[in-house]
Amino acid sequence: MKIAIISGASAGLGKKLLEKAIPAFSDIEEYWLISRSLDKLKEVASVYPGKSFKLLPLDLCSHDSFKTLSDELEAHKHEVRLLINNAGCGFLNNVGDGPLDEQLSMVDLNIRALTAVTHIVLPYIPAGGHIINISSIASFCPNPRMTVYSSTKAYVSSFSRGLWDELKSRKISVTAVCSGPMDTEFIYKGNIKGKSKTFDTLPYCDPDKVAAGAVKAALKGKAVYTPRAFYKLYRILAKLIPHAIMINASRT
Ligand SMILES: NC(=O)c1ccc[n+]([C@@H]2O[C@H](COP(=O)([O-])OP(=O)(O)OC[C@H]3O[C@@H](n4cnc5c(N)ncnc54)[C@H](OP(=O)(O)O)[C@@H]3O)[C@@H](O)[C@H]2O)c1
Repeated sequence: MKIAIISGASAGLGKKLLEKAIPAFSDIEEYWLISRSLDKLKEVASVYPGKSFKLLPLDLCSHDSFKTLSDELEAHKHEVRLLINNAGCGFLNNVGDGPLDEQLSMVDLNIRALTAVTHIVLPYIPAGGHIINISSIASFCPNPRMTVYSSTKAYVSSFSRGLWDELKSRKISVTAVCSGPMDTEFIYKGNIKGKSKTFDTLPYCDPDKVAAGAVKAALKGKAVYTPRAFYKLYRILAKLIPHAIMINASRT
């Protein structure tokens, strides 16, 4: 059976990525959706009564979840045509302030889980398959007050670029999606909304458009997708201008 796996599919961008993937990948027979909340996943699946789903209520910060996913894949031996590593979190705080758990959860989910899920799923991805990794504009330059978050997303973008090259000969595409702020639960859970001048003044990205663009970019085999001209320009500037200067504009 041909399947797709989407992490963080119960809310925000993940929900939109599912909505856009369904018509774009007509050969996919089953969608495996991951998040911690089974109820939310059931709600998402109920929107598509004609589609087949496997709902995996997993906490990707827990090592046990990797074993569960690995066992499921081993038991079914499906072809994974599309893997979307979308689950992520971000908290506004200086390093040394606030709960340590928040800082570590960014490393665990954004880096460790993304790496583990990719490693576990990769043997099941055939030629012609696609991987979409949700990174961020935060990956372009360090963002003080979100130093850990921006560092995790720098990893996601760098990991995706390296993997893109490793998988070229297997004809598997890898796309890093670098969105600007989106009005999802993320900015409320992370204590960001209303607490950061930069976040509150930056132009927002529409998750619907980001998801559509991400799917399109993956189908074209693009290594990086950055929505909005404003953030495309920011990406170029962050490459040309030393970080010591850029950092003044990227402070959250
Ligand atoms: N919103 C923004 O401003 C923004 C900007 C750029 C990039 N991004 C990136 O976009 C991606 C999606 O974020 P979003 O804005 O859609 O955030 P969101 O609305 O908070 O959704 C996050 C998703 O991840 C799941 N999740 C969180 N912790 C998890 C865990 N430990 N294990 C498994 N699943 C978990 C959540 O479901 P449960 O809570 O049920 O587990 C939810 O489905 C993230 O990688 C984020 O870094 C966001």
